[in-house]
Amino acid sequence: MLIDGHGRKVNYLRVSVTERCNFRCQYCMPEKPFSWVPKEKLLSFEDMFEFIKVGIDEGIEKVRLTGGEPLLRQGLDTFIKMISDYAPTLDLALTTNAFLLEESAQRLKDAGLKRVNISLDSLDAVVAHQIAQKDVLPKVLKGIAKADEVGLKIKINCVPMKDVNDDSLVEMLEFCKEKGYEIRFIEFMENSHANVKAGLTSADIQAIIRKKYDFKKGEREGNSPSQSYFLDDGYKFGIIEPHLDDFCSDCNRLRITAEGFLIPCLYFEDALSIADAIKAKDIKEASNILKKVLQNKPEKNKWGSEDNSDRAFYETGG
Ligand code: 5AD
Ligand code: SF4
Repeated sequence: MLIDGHGRKVNYLRVSVTERCNFRCQYCMPEKPFSWVPKEKLLSFEDMFEFIKVGIDEGIEKVRLTGGEPLLRQGLDTFIKMISDYAPTLDLALTTNAFLLEESAQRLKDAGLKRVNISLDSLDAVVAHQIAQKDVLPKVLKGIAKADEVGLKIKINCVPMKDVNDDSLVEMLEFCKEKGYEIRFIEFMENSHANVKAGLTSADIQAIIRKKYDFKKGEREGNSPSQSYFLDDGYKFGIIEPHLDDFCSDCNRLRITAEGFLIPCLYFEDALSIADAIKAKDIKEASNILKKVLQNKPEKNKWGSEDNSDRAFYETGG
């Protein structure tokens, strides 16, 4: 079992397979140019798999593949199959913008993928275009429909922003409710790479929904970062409230970048690379580094403090 320096069980690994993206969402990566990691510095899928095996053997029970946009990386389905064959009961999920999902959903599902979290910030094509800085909505909707058709479980992520998509939230909720997808509104997390005037707080989001629907707060589920709310008809939606003081208290996650840096917290600069150890097939050293990073996991994010990080979300997969 993996226990961090504050006694928390860590069983969730988020794996960023590329920091590249075909969108430029304004809350994530609006500015150009980027200093992309050169291809030769990326961990190969074989190397990533070696590390994931270390994690699984030590107690990782959930793996989420993220980006940038993970579907941009060739061979993702083969990578998924490697992981899934090694650990068939692992909770294996993917976070994607769904732009390339229509053509890949069946292959991903066949490879062993169970769930997808999809970024969808508006059902208005003009607003979606404004947010992603590209005309994305038609292809995203086709990607979502295909994922549904092939039997992938779907959750939708939406980042509400003041005067951008705040008038789309009820429509988004209704769309997801009708389709049977859970929607999770995520409070905008400030970062220097974003170009957002203001995000909505959980209270703002609740006030908008409350104008049309009554709902009750549910229990916080396990280590999920999402607070559940239930409409009167039982439909569950979530709000991810990172600005709440105790948001980090039951954090169970660790991230690895496409280059092999193990990141104990989004808002914390210190990270160690497992790339050399894995490339040298030194599994013991990789495991030692994993334990060191866990020991160094901060109790809370370092928002506003000196040890905070300026790392972009597209490097860590959010
Ligand atoms: N604030 C909140 N959520 C973000 N995401 C990316 N950047 C941010 C941010 N600054 C979320 C998006 C996307 C996922 C990859 O990360 O919802 O779905
Ligand atoms: Fe790309 Fe996701 Fe960042 Fe949007 S949030 S730019 S889809 S990595």
